[in-house]
Amino acid sequence: MLPDVARVWEYMQRVAQELFALYGYEPVYTPLFEHTDVFTRGIGEATDIVSKEMYTFEDKGGRSITLRPEGTASVVRSALEHGLTANGGQAKIYYSGPMFRYERPQKGRMRQFWQIGVEVLGAAESTADAEVITLLWRYFEALGIPASNMRLLLNSMGDGSCRPRYREKIAAFIRSHGAELCEECNHRADTNPFRAFDCKNPGCVAVMGRAPLLRDELCDACAAHYASVRSHLDALGIPYVEEPKLVRGLDYYTRTVFEVQVDAGLGSQNGIGGGGRYDRLMEEYGGPATPGLGFALGFERTLLAMEAAGVKAPGLALAEVFVARVDDSVTAEVFAVAQSLRDAGIATELDHQGRSLKSQFKQADRLGARFVVVVGPDELAAGEVTLRDMTTKEENRVAMDAAPAAVAAALG
Ligand code: HAM
Repeated sequence: MLPDVARVWEYMQRVAQELFALYGYEPVYTPLFEHTDVFTRGIGEATDIVSKEMYTFEDKGGRSITLRPEGTASVVRSALEHGLTANGGQAKIYYSGPMFRYERPQKGRMRQFWQIGVEVLGAAESTADAEVITLLWRYFEALGIPASNMRLLLNSMGDGSCRPRYREKIAAFIRSHGAELCEECNHRADTNPFRAFDCKNPGCVAVMGRAPLLRDELCDACAAHYASVRSHLDALGIPYVEEPKLVRGLDYYTRTVFEVQVDAGLGSQNGIGGGGRYDRLMEEYGGPATPGLGFALGFERTLLAMEAAGVKAPGLALAEVFVARVDDSVTAEVFAVAQSLRDAGIATELDHQGRSLKSQFKQADRLGARFVVVVGPDELAAGEVTLRDMTTKEENRVAMDAAPAAVAAALG
């Protein structure tokens, strides 16, 4: 990732850090790899991620190790290991970094990609669902992606009391339409029937369009939770669309699931962020029943969505000021003046390549410097520097010692 992209990355991280802090989230860093079992148990053996996409290898100690395909499993594993939610406490966490999935690369889909995500552990109430969904939406808005370019899909996956019955119903539906469905969907009847809703095969899409919906089979508690999430979102004016066929690709979800998709710029990889609730995950790792939920979004896809919407990340000036030397006799003074500006918190650049004065001015322009501080033998003799405004071309002489204060005042 070269500087032109890396700088946008840092901007996206900064926007996230500032926004997530407003909602009370704290950073964590989990390892890039874990024992394979952390992911197989958490994400689910029958998911595409675990069955096809993990970078798994044996280390020199004979342990099975996997590069993390996502962050949730690691966060929950570490929260349990370190007792972050011991005694019924709540933890609000965010993380960012590279994730690894052995997928077929295409636009917006790579084998190493960058996620930023949040997780709330210990919160069962529907306000937590609405908070997390709102935060995801507000983040994309804060980056400048217009709401009209995005679609927020919402669904409930039910829980242990209503989903198993529905799962059997879908499996039976798939079996009864076996001849019209692709081989993989037929196989899914036994392994992971919900994934048949995600099949892109037009025949399968048509058949699954007639499948029974979990929305109509939710138990009372799940239906009430889902209605409550929607009412909180309605009250905030967050424009979700109910999508009863949204199932998402990870097994740990219970109740609320959601995804933000965009139309422009991404082709079929149009999900820029998504997440949901996973109230059983901590128990999967042998911990106490602890509700949880969160989201993750992909930076590469978000950037494509920003570009498609014509949004430019604000360019940080590489230098506010350039200190130029008229000739070699003032090199030491130029270096000292540049340092005094930097010490005053002003982004400053100077020439390290023996360029002519003219080409130093060109470099100052390229860097976006608003002022050039010129030091030459004349200025030096008077104990001064020349301060040139690159916009108005106005020039002023100021005392060398006063340069940082004068530049700070001129920059406003
Ligand atoms: P996910 O939907 O698998 O969810 O990934 C979240 C986001 O990561 C996607 O919306 C997409 O932007 C990005 N992404 C995924 N795979 C790729 C890829 N191969 N190339 C580029 N970008 C990709 C999760 O990972 C869950 N852990 C989210 C979550 C957090 N659920 C609860 N808490």
